Amino acid sequence: MRSRKFGATLVSAVALLLVGACSGTTEAQGGDASGADSATSSGSDGKAVVAFSQEGLENDWRLENTASIRETLENAGYTVLYQQADEDQARQVEQVQNLLQQKPDILVVEPAEQEAATPIAALAEDAGVPLIVADRALGVGPDSATQYKVLITQNWEQMGTKLGEAAVQLLTKVNGSPKGSIVELVGVLGSAPQVAMDKGFADVLAQYPDIKILDAQDGENKRAPGRQIMEDYLTRYPAGQIDMVWAQNDEMGIGALAAIQDAGRDELVGRIISKDGQVEAIQQVAEGNFATVCTNTPYFGPIILPYVEKILAGESLETATPDKPFTCFESITDAGQKEAKAQYDELTAASAKFANR
Ligand code: AHR
Repeated sequence: MRSRKFGATLVSAVALLLVGACSGTTEAQGGDASGADSATSSGSDGKAVVAFSQEGLENDWRLENTASIRETLENAGYTVLYQQADEDQARQVEQVQNLLQQKPDILVVEPAEQEAATPIAALAEDAGVPLIVADRALGVGPDSATQYKVLITQNWEQMGTKLGEAAVQLLTKVNGSPKGSIVELVGVLGSAPQVAMDKGFADVLAQYPDIKILDAQDGENKRAPGRQIMEDYLTRYPAGQIDMVWAQNDEMGIGALAAIQDAGRDELVGRIISKDGQVEAIQQVAEGNFATVCTNTPYFGPIILPYVEKILAGESLETATPDKPFTCFESITDAGQKEAKAQYDELTAASAKFANR
């Protein structure tokens, strides 16, 4: 389903290196009319320069995540060189090369796919620029190179395990015993979260031979493809053939719910599990339309900042892969539904788009 964009789009270094006058000044480059595509600052005022390479802006999680990192670093006085790659891993590697040519003091990267992004570690090593990888991992870890300092990521395998257990609980509730068929909406094939979540999920299912994954297609972590794939599943698998939906993020789960409701397939309402902690998804748990949503905060700015400061100060880091905990909301019990409602109320009062835990 996913159109992979490995055919390299050659973007000239000149076009990439737009220079703003001071920290916080932004200039657009590429196809984003909002001006969010690319921004650079000179660093000539003596502030440390942090280059930030984002894999794309495919959904609200990514937008919140990008804003959090840029604003936190800029507010802390850093000059931020920023590029986003529209989910094109080859393009991101090129952008990293161009960012490194500007000799930043530190490089922060959020990659798209695991193996195709792995050369980034060697690029940072060769340039002698300390590297922080956040959210999704590369194919190599921080112990692979001296400049690769820290990986800040969710424990995706644990997330997959938790969601696998939630699937078993749900199927046991609806079918009287742990049995049934799952359709999956995959979140970017080849990305670290996809690989590790699928492993955690599969390890749980291996204990239950009567539970199977009926179909799995890549919905790119986006709402519209999630909806479209679900429409396709509903056409191909009539009522009784699907017992639940596993969406690898909330956006795809929300798209799937819309498809289910439009098709009048009421038996699947309340049978969706997903992750991210998006306020709309937590609302669906509170209303009983989703079974489970696990959080995955996009607010990385305050998480990354202490590592940036320690690395620049030449301090050693306590751990190369720090824990980033998550919690889950579940509508399977009344108490769980009430907890989701309380969280939804809290988030909407604070105008927050995601749970920060
Ligand atoms: O890598 C994390 C995932 O990326 C988030 O779950 C998703 O919404 C985003 O696109």
